[in-house]
Amino acid sequence: MTILAGKNITKRFAGLVAIGAVDFHLEQGEILGLIGPNGAGKTTLINVIAGVYPPSEGDIFFKNKKISGKKPFQIGRMGIARTFQVVKPFPGMTVKENTAVGAMYGTAAGRHSPREAIAKAEEILEFVGLAEQMNKHADQLTVASRKRLEIAKALAMEPELVLLDEVMAGLNFAEIDQAVELIKKIRDQGKTILVIEHIMRAIKGVCDRIFVLHHGRKIADGSVTDVLNNDEVIKAYLGKRYKKLAANSA
Ligand SMILES: Nc1ncnc2c1ncn2[C@@H]1O[C@H](COP(=O)(O)OP(=O)(O)OP(=O)(O)O)[C@@H](O)[C@H]1O
Ligand SMILES: [Mg+2]
Repeated sequence: MTILAGKNITKRFAGLVAIGAVDFHLEQGEILGLIGPNGAGKTTLINVIAGVYPPSEGDIFFKNKKISGKKPFQIGRMGIARTFQVVKPFPGMTVKENTAVGAMYGTAAGRHSPREAIAKAEEILEFVGLAEQMNKHADQLTVASRKRLEIAKALAMEPELVLLDEVMAGLNFAEIDQAVELIKKIRDQGKTILVIEHIMRAIKGVCDRIFVLHHGRKIADGSVTDVLNNDEVIKAYLGKRYKKLAANSA
């Protein structure tokens, strides 16, 4: 079943076409990778899905309901949560309080009392592996833990669809592998996930399917093997170096 579909999505900023006439879809329960060079329009696409900007053209449907034109808080309540590429914790608050905010504004908005939101936050922090850090201030965390907190805040909204924007940037290999395991665990809970990432080790480790943006246009969409061996994708993004690496590791 298709959970999210974008039809002919265009997003312009003044004269710049950040996304040009892109069709995309996510099937329920899949992990879809979104890759492409810097400035390709990946974060803009998350922003358009999440309602930060309405698309300039086209429409987005979540579970067959039109969501384009709705506000971020409305889309959040419907069951879509996102992380921010530049992490955005509330600095004066603890890890637990930061996560509890998500629980107050997600699909259960209005249902959780502050006490329940705190309990939910504790459960989520346990799940993402931040239980021992929950009383620290967000700005005391390492990069890897801050990225986990971004994920925790999104999960606390109890979404069906999670949009992850470079949650592995700045992590070392061991931390990347742990993040890949966490993303799989999130999917095992029945959630659908969009993963934006430049780290091919992570994309290969976690995605069922990949689509590729380049200058705001979709240049490929298919299985991990097909897309990573696609000549246009190699030319636009992966480069010859990657092709050699892929051949060596095969
Ligand atoms: N609010 C904005 N106003 C004007 N231009 C913007 C805005 N947001 C993004 N852009 C432009 O849109 C284009 C796409 O940017 P976007 O951040 O979506 O790229 P990206 O694929 O996420 O890149 P990266 O891999 O570096 O994160 C870029 O040219 C960027 O400068
Ligand atoms: Mg980006």
